[in-house]
Amino acid sequence: MREDTIQQRYSNNVIKKLIEECRFEGSYDEWKAARSFVGKAIHKKGTLIDLGCANGFFLRCLQDWQPYDLDVYGIDNREEAISEARNLFPDKTNHFQIISGADIYLLYEDYDEQLLPSKYDFVYRNYWRNELNSEENLKEEINKLLPLVRDDGRLILGIYAGSDIKIESHPHMMRWVENMKKAAGRVDGEAYAETGGSLWIMWIDVVATPQSTSKTTHKSDPIWGNFSSKTDPV
Ligand SMILES: C[S@@+](CC[C@H](N)C(=O)[O-])C[C@H]1O[C@@H](n2cnc3c(N)ncnc32)[C@H](O)[C@@H]1O
Repeated sequence: MREDTIQQRYSNNVIKKLIEECRFEGSYDEWKAARSFVGKAIHKKGTLIDLGCANGFFLRCLQDWQPYDLDVYGIDNREEAISEARNLFPDKTNHFQIISGADIYLLYEDYDEQLLPSKYDFVYRNYWRNELNSEENLKEEINKLLPLVRDDGRLILGIYAGSDIKIESHPHMMRWVENMKKAAGRVDGEAYAETGGSLWIMWIDVVATPQSTSKTTHKSDPIWGNFSSKTDPV
């Protein structure tokens, strides 16, 4: 773990605003307790894209919450979120683009007008409750995300189902985790938040296989397409 510089760099008020914009209710310590475990999936330096990056604050924090240098990128379908992310990373404004998850094919290497790189060492996507019920949809989504991962890179999939709901008392969390694992087909690692809340990630390591280089279709995504209105703070 490197030094956490967030509280030195930003005032408490700014941190509070940045956290709220990520749809999280709580202090910086609570935010860190609920999100820093994602750093366990980072095992080398490299590039990382957050699909649904909000104002980029999670990415900014992740840079401090684990030991490796991360060059970060993000997409979000909200213009104001990307504008905030560009403010947070003034030297990297072109790393943040208004792109809907339904249009993820815009990043693929065979797409003509590239706004962002087509491959990353780490691709991160967190899922919300309403997205996790269909193993088939999750499988389809994972197949769309894998082409964005470099060989020897990692696809990281997360579930934020409630930082204040203990896993053992969450009625659906274990089913959602199982759905994700089955949809992924393989699990190369997983981690839970140490808070005991219903927060979990798993990852798939990508090696040079036909799956990691396969082309996928460019049709609208059933999960992202439905995901924009209802979000519970977690
Ligand atoms: C709660 S924030 C997550 C921030 C950060 N990734 C994290 O892990 O804390 C979820 C973000 O996903 C974005 N989002 C929701 N639906 C999306 C879609 N269809 N395409 C792109 N972004 C989307 C929202 O605008 C929001 O900023």
